[in-house]
Amino acid sequence: MSFRFFAYTFLVCLCIGFASCREECTVDCPPDNTDGPIVLDWDTLNFSPQAYELVVPPTLPDPADYIPADNPLTIEGVALGRKLFYDPILSADTSLSCAGCHAQEFSFTDSGNALSIGVQNMPGTRNSMALFNLMYSDRLFWDGSRATLESQALEPVPNPLEMHLEWEVAEERLRSDTAYVQAFYEALGTTSITANDVAKAIAQFERTIVSGNSTFDQAITPGSGVFLSEEAQLGYSLFFTENGDCFHCHGDPLNLFTDNLFHNNGLDAVDDVNDFADPGLGEITGDPSDYGKFRTPSLRNVAMTAPYMHDGRFETLEEVIDHYSEHIQNSPTLDPVIGSKFGEGLGLSDGDKQAIIAFLNSLTDETFLNNPDYAAPAD
Ligand code: HEC
Ligand code: HEC
Repeated sequence: MSFRFFAYTFLVCLCIGFASCREECTVDCPPDNTDGPIVLDWDTLNFSPQAYELVVPPTLPDPADYIPADNPLTIEGVALGRKLFYDPILSADTSLSCAGCHAQEFSFTDSGNALSIGVQNMPGTRNSMALFNLMYSDRLFWDGSRATLESQALEPVPNPLEMHLEWEVAEERLRSDTAYVQAFYEALGTTSITANDVAKAIAQFERTIVSGNSTFDQAITPGSGVFLSEEAQLGYSLFFTENGDCFHCHGDPLNLFTDNLFHNNGLDAVDDVNDFADPGLGEITGDPSDYGKFRTPSLRNVAMTAPYMHDGRFETLEEVIDHYSEHIQNSPTLDPVIGSKFGEGLGLSDGDKQAIIAFLNSLTDETFLNNPDYAAPAD
């Protein structure tokens, strides 16, 4: 059977299946397909994707070591992933895209919700996470429960607290859209469009989202002529020494501002680890010594991502610094660095606190926040 014949038969079957589905459809219905059956001229379609050359700022690690061999970046794949990321077609009532909870202007977090809000205003259980430099992490989510961007991207669509759409319905919708049928073929060589294809394309787009051109990055780049303000320099020295002690967890040789590990940073006082409102890593491993531990978030662009922590409990950076300085809570899994050195807290002066915040503000990367390649596509 020739490929053309196969593809044509497949599409005809798809359209018949879709039409019969629509007659009965009352919930999770696909959007009206006013264009009628899909007719593609397969002769004009081509599966020969072009390699996407990802260039990152010099302060970040070389991406070549972090792109998986089974999902290389291509121009077509990244463009498709970007379209999907911004398309509410993947949510039950077509009201919410990934970008609804991950908006570029807020460093790809949402616009200030403590807990994220899904379709039909369903309250989520955690604070939306910033999305950048994701290729460097193999433990995604606050609890590290997702190892790859591909496996993560499968999660929000069916999640009842997020986009709440069965994957089968999402696949049907995409298969009934001519532009997507064509784009999936050109990007991934697929004629079927499965959830895994969607995840692959989104993961490609996500890997291109990098942030490494903040004032801080410019200041550490020799010859840039950019310097941190005196206050930010004081903040830098507090951050990277025992005085502020932030570097133990948020400092790393790769300039990512996270050790990508899990810690209990003293948010809640509990005697028994089962009393943590959110067990975090403990729920994943079942190990009592992991209860109350969460992944250290990067502090790049942190000025844009309020509110803070896995449950969005702190509204401002001032509140965060006050926490580390004065309000550390004891519990059986409290991080030893914080427990031994911070004691009840760091006891920072007001000037020290403001200096640390000035340094954190220097991690804001306007190039990333305004990069047109990460914004919603034009069509
Ligand atoms: C309803 C809001 C919401 C929607 C819609 C949503 N997310 Fe998220 N996203 C979150 C929350 C909340 C977390 C943290 C989840 C956790 O830790 O349990 C998160 C975490 C992530 C992470 C992990 C980041 C990291 O550093 O570990 C990625 C990647 C991500 N989302 C991508 C996506 C993609 C892709 C989509 C669309 C398919 C999407 N999100 C849709 C709220 C949302
Ligand atoms: C022992 C490790 C550790 C140390 C030391 C530490 N942090 Fe954290 N930090 C974390 C972890 C883990 C989280 C996430 C906790 C959670 O949400 O439950 C976090 C969260 C944060 C957040 C919130 C980020 C967001 O996106 O919500 C900020 C801001 C922050 N830390 C700044 C600092 C500063 C400033 C210092 C030094 C004064 C510091 N941290 C010291 C581990 C640490």
